[in-house]
Amino acid sequence: MRPSLAVALATSAGAAAVSVKSLDDVCTLANVKAALPSNGTLLGINVIPSATTVNAVSSDSTTYCNVTVAYTHPGKGDTVTIEYAFPEPSAYKNRFYVAGGFGYSLSTTSTGGISYGAVGGATSAGYGALDGVTVDEVFLAGNGSIDWDPIYMFAYQALGEMTVLGKNITPGFYGSDSKIYTYYEGCSDGGRQGMSQIQRWGKEYDGVITGAPAFRYGQQQVNHLFSAEVEQELDYYPPPCELEKIVNATIAACDPLDGRTDGVISRSDLCELNFNLTSIIGEPYYCAAEVSTSLGFNFGKRSIGKRDDGSSTTYQPAQNGTVSAKGVAVAQAIIDGLHNSKGERAYLSYQIGASYTDAETEYNNDTKQWEMDIPSTGGEFVAKFIELNADADNLDTLDGVTYDTLVSWMNQAMFRYMDSLQTTLPDLTDFQSHGGKLLHYHGESDPSVPTASSIHYWQSVRGIMYPDLTSKESLTKLRDWYQLYLVPGAAHCATNSLQPGPYPEDNMETMIDWVENGITPTRLNATVSAGEYEGEVQRLCQWPSRPLWHNNATFDCVFDKASYDTWTYEFPAFKVPVY
Ligand SMILES: *[C@@H]1O[C@H](CO)[C@@H](O)[C@H](O)[C@H]1NC(C)=O
Ligand SMILES: *[C@@H]1O[C@H](CO)[C@@H](O)[C@H](O)[C@H]1NC(C)=O
Ligand SMILES: *[C@@H]1O[C@H](CO)[C@@H](O)[C@H](O)[C@H]1NC(C)=O
Ligand SMILES: *[C@@H]1O[C@H](CO)[C@@H](O)[C@H](O)[C@H]1NC(C)=O
Ligand SMILES: *[C@@H]1O[C@H](CO)[C@@H](O)[C@H](O)[C@H]1NC(C)=O
Ligand SMILES: *[C@@H]1O[C@H](CO)[C@@H](O)[C@H](O)[C@H]1NC(C)=O
Ligand SMILES: *[C@@H]1O[C@H](CO)[C@@H](O)[C@H](O)[C@H]1NC(C)=O
Ligand SMILES: *[C@@H]1O[C@H](CO)[C@@H](O)[C@H](O)[C@H]1NC(C)=O
Ligand SMILES: *[C@@H]1O[C@H](CO)[C@@H](O)[C@H](O)[C@H]1NC(C)=O
Repeated sequence: MRPSLAVALATSAGAAAVSVKSLDDVCTLANVKAALPSNGTLLGINVIPSATTVNAVSSDSTTYCNVTVAYTHPGKGDTVTIEYAFPEPSAYKNRFYVAGGFGYSLSTTSTGGISYGAVGGATSAGYGALDGVTVDEVFLAGNGSIDWDPIYMFAYQALGEMTVLGKNITPGFYGSDSKIYTYYEGCSDGGRQGMSQIQRWGKEYDGVITGAPAFRYGQQQVNHLFSAEVEQELDYYPPPCELEKIVNATIAACDPLDGRTDGVISRSDLCELNFNLTSIIGEPYYCAAEVSTSLGFNFGKRSIGKRDDGSSTTYQPAQNGTVSAKGVAVAQAIIDGLHNSKGERAYLSYQIGASYTDAETEYNNDTKQWEMDIPSTGGEFVAKFIELNADADNLDTLDGVTYDTLVSWMNQAMFRYMDSLQTTLPDLTDFQSHGGKLLHYHGESDPSVPTASSIHYWQSVRGIMYPDLTSKESLTKLRDWYQLYLVPGAAHCATNSLQPGPYPEDNMETMIDWVENGITPTRLNATVSAGEYEGEVQRLCQWPSRPLWHNNATFDCVFDKASYDTWTYEFPAFKVPVY
């Protein structure tokens, strides 16, 4: 290995006899520089030692060594800066922790691992990501001209290199060559980033926690336009209050189907099988006038785009009416998902009971009409990543756009970003064979990344990894290292104000137990944070089993084929396999 490691280990052997080192002992420029890999050690990463900075940070709440390291890719002349946070030696538990970002961002915080005794990092990715620069701001060199470096760095490379380099420096820093348990945690695009790491750098990670991953990027991003396209096709732009009423009435009708009336749809599959949205037609709704967009929808989105950054102040008049057949038709078409004009399915959609966030319309004060409001989550993606308009932050209109247009945009984006952002490689052999564990979760009422998107990937991995095993055998094998949990009623990487359900809080504790103590989880703890059952700890069912409550107090985890089938999709509108 590196010459510097031998030196560091010799130092450590001497020191160990005396006492554990202090932060001041290790948090020095000399110690860090001695721990840096020399050029040629990590192929493709040339550290620039002169750019290193080191300073101890100590406050009542936290103590760590803040280290910045810069490197270049040989021959490229670029500079990537990484900030690492090293816990003080007495707190270090042989762990490395990578946090995911969200939207078009990488994480800008290096300190997320400190409380776990883990070294953590955050990277500039070569384009200022550490200062909050987002990839959509920089990946176009000009109109029509993609600068691929930021795309690949954002897609997977920057985090992978940060992990490889950080794990290389850590033994020298502490003077310890113990195994470094390496963790990842993130939700939304942070979930996608986590999937990118197990797909591309599988041998580096021991425990990866991914929530609601915004992967299958081409489909996922364009799908944000589907709801608005439905409104255009059906020529009906529902007042937001009408859609919220449809959601509330769906929740009221489907909540009991899981065996307990607690305000939460724990079985959206039973809702899909047993509830007909047309039964809501004629129900009255009312929402008071408002200046803002909140309306009780729990965006909790933190997802791609700027529409929900809280800065928009839209006027909405009082809305008083009854749910219309057209309103229900819009909701039903959204639930049914995108099909091309031949009727072939192109994508899956949000679960019934989720908010219709993408469908939200805008009030025109002059015409007194509700109008299409193109979600920038989808509109910016099409304008920038597909049409390559460097100046755009949304599409101007959906004029001339049809369902077939959406399908062709998805296909184009899937092809263009297949080996970068798409992030659905289903062969996880490197990760699995190295002993990696994956904890994947998804809110069942997510209005931004369809819950079924996670199911589809889980099914793809199972099919690709275990093509010859029976269903039961493959499930048993998969569970040893890849577990998926749906969170009843939860929104996008957040609780849902319309459904007071449980939300997992101690995923890292579960993961550390799994990785370091060999305790394979069978359930996932989640705590109810509001409503009648606030404080109740639910031990969530592991997919594909589903909860069924009895006597209001406990639930079983059951499997039924009809429910499972509602989650299973094929996408014949595309000619290549969609994992
Ligand atoms: C490694 O390469 C980088 C850039 O290629 C250079 O700045 C640095 O000085 C080299 N490191 C050593 C230890 O020679
Ligand atoms: C770490 O040090 C760098 C360089 O001095 C500084 O820019 C950064 O804000 C520090 N970060 C933390 C988390 O202390
Ligand atoms: C929907 O339910 C929420 C509470 O769960 C309530 O605040 C909101 O006013 C309801 N909206 C409509 C349109 O009924
Ligand atoms: C829902 O009910 C309507 C009206 O009765 C009927 O036309 C429609 O086929 C039903 N939908 C489903 C999925 O059963
Ligand atoms: C809504 O409209 C109905 C019928 O026009 C009316 O009876 C009711 O008072 C209105 N509700 C509110 C809260 O304004
Ligand atoms: C829209 O019109 C209402 C009353 O007609 C007014 O109170 C409100 O300020 C207007 N909002 C905007 C954004 O123009
Ligand atoms: C880029 O293309 C857009 C849309 O065609 C155009 O409005 C804009 O002026 C172009 N920008 C430059 C710098 O050419
Ligand atoms: C999960 O919850 C159970 C019951 O409340 C508790 O005994 C257990 O320690 C929890 N596990 C974790 C990992 O928090
Ligand atoms: C469960 O709670 C509901 C009210 O939410 C009540 O009507 C029902 O009797 C309870 N069932 C049992 C078995 O306690």
